[in-house]
Amino acid sequence: MTTMRFDDLRQYSDLLRARSGAGLTVRFVEPRDAEALQNYFRSLTTRFRYNRFLGATRELPPSVLQDFIHIGEADRFSVIATMLVDGHEIIVGEARYAFDDGSIEFGLSIDDRWQGHGIGKALLKNLECRAASFGADRLFGDTLRSNDAMIGLARKSGYAFMPSPGDWKLVRFEKHIDAAPRDIPCASWKLASASRHLATAPLAS
Ligand SMILES: CC(C)(COP(=O)(O)OP(=O)(O)OC[C@H]1O[C@@H](n2cnc3c(N)ncnc32)[C@H](O)[C@@H]1OP(=O)(O)O)[C@@H](O)C(=O)NCCC(=O)NCCS
Repeated sequence: MTTMRFDDLRQYSDLLRARSGAGLTVRFVEPRDAEALQNYFRSLTTRFRYNRFLGATRELPPSVLQDFIHIGEADRFSVIATMLVDGHEIIVGEARYAFDDGSIEFGLSIDDRWQGHGIGKALLKNLECRAASFGADRLFGDTLRSNDAMIGLARKSGYAFMPSPGDWKLVRFEKHIDAAPRDIPCASWKLASASRHLATAPLAS
């Protein structure tokens, strides 16, 4: 797995574009984001929050919020997509992913007002960079069979579908990742992946 420097999380930020060309930053959540992140989840429409967490919840329980802001614990990571509006950084989306045994499992959401602008697609592409740079060869998630938006996003992004183990109400979407460092389209993760490969490459004899 890529060795990460937790003392400087900002180096793992990426600049993405919404469909309109508007710029977005994707960066790891930091402790200073706790309140804004909680407000973001509270502001999601009930149905979207249900779809994101696969159950009814008004906000993140305090212990889960703590997990979200502690990057890298148990190989779990949270990112936020932010935009500058009138000089203020606002959260327009988030994703959480977990690295386990060569796979990345993830969930994500986009603020109600920003859905349909290509941000989910861009964020998902960014997660694929992160997964590839970790050396993961599979990215997957589970969603409700009724979640047309997530199923549409996964289909558009080239994911395959299968039943979720153990829950008939869910469907699993999955994509095989096979990217060499030079093929990773996110600058910061291309670098991280290249340094992982250098670190693990055998010395020339
Ligand atoms: C699913 C979700 C992340 C999609 O994000 P988004 O930013 O609105 O998606 P995008 O604008 O990038 O759309 C990309 C593609 O997804 C598909 N899509 C998006 N919304 C859709 C909808 N309501 N119905 C069907 N397909 C949809 C389309 O194929 C779209 O491509 P197109 O615009 O060229 O047709 C967003 O709806 C969301 O946050 N939902 C609530 C939380 C959730 O369900 N999370 C999933 C848990 S794993």
